[in-house]
Amino acid sequence: MNKRLIIGNWKMNPSTLDEAKRIIRSMRIVATKLEHTQVVACPPYLYISNCISKKSNSVSIGSQTVSIQEGGAHTGEISPAMLKDIGVQYVIVGHSEQRASGDSDEIVSKRIIATVEAGMKAVVCIGENVRDEQGVYLDTLKDQIKRTFAGIQSKYARDIIIVYEPVWAIGAKEAMAPEQVYETSLFVKKVFSDIFSQESAMKVKVLYGGSVNFRNAGDIIRIGKVDGLLVGRESVNIPGLKELLKAVDVVVL
Ligand code: 13P
Repeated sequence: MNKRLIIGNWKMNPSTLDEAKRIIRSMRIVATKLEHTQVVACPPYLYISNCISKKSNSVSIGSQTVSIQEGGAHTGEISPAMLKDIGVQYVIVGHSEQRASGDSDEIVSKRIIATVEAGMKAVVCIGENVRDEQGVYLDTLKDQIKRTFAGIQSKYARDIIIVYEPVWAIGAKEAMAPEQVYETSLFVKKVFSDIFSQESAMKVKVLYGGSVNFRNAGDIIRIGKVDGLLVGRESVNIPGLKELLKAVDVVVL
């Protein structure tokens, strides 16, 4: 069985290094006991080195973004080679919060290329801002996926993880209903297969993100039939995260 992938997006949390170390330690303890679940933590850049362990690989480390530049005079930027060199394996690309601060589909596309060419997996977020009764959001989603993956060579399809993360469900009270997650993730796979191939689409992992917590995670995996979850708030809440990981690991499909 393919392992479920649970990726924690810590965003700009926590506010101290000690707390970051505490979170990653707790994650490792739970993750070593999981049978069907692979865990990834994406701390802020500043904490990444402290979260990487040479002794344990039970939690892989990801970054929340990456520069499209290779190096040189780019103040404040971190290159793909730097991340790869210290042991980062995943990069979140195209998160709506990055898109809101200026990342266009074209830039997202460049970040995907920079990530996969450096030998890391790109965790690519897509999702509509609003949902309407007429289904216009499906066209929006399709256009966004097409533009985001424009120019990506098909040999890199295996290094891409798609996260369907509807913007309206991020930081909300409720996640999307698992039945809707199922329908929309199928749609996302279909559009992906139109761009690459059916074979690539069969292999690509599609995750869901948006207000996932320990209460709804199991059902989203079971009914939504997604390959994993991108978790925000609950990923830095140790008690909730422990329960979430256990709930996901016991789902039988
Ligand atoms: P929340 O889980 O806090 O809604 O955040 C979702 C998210 O943006 C993960 O990338």
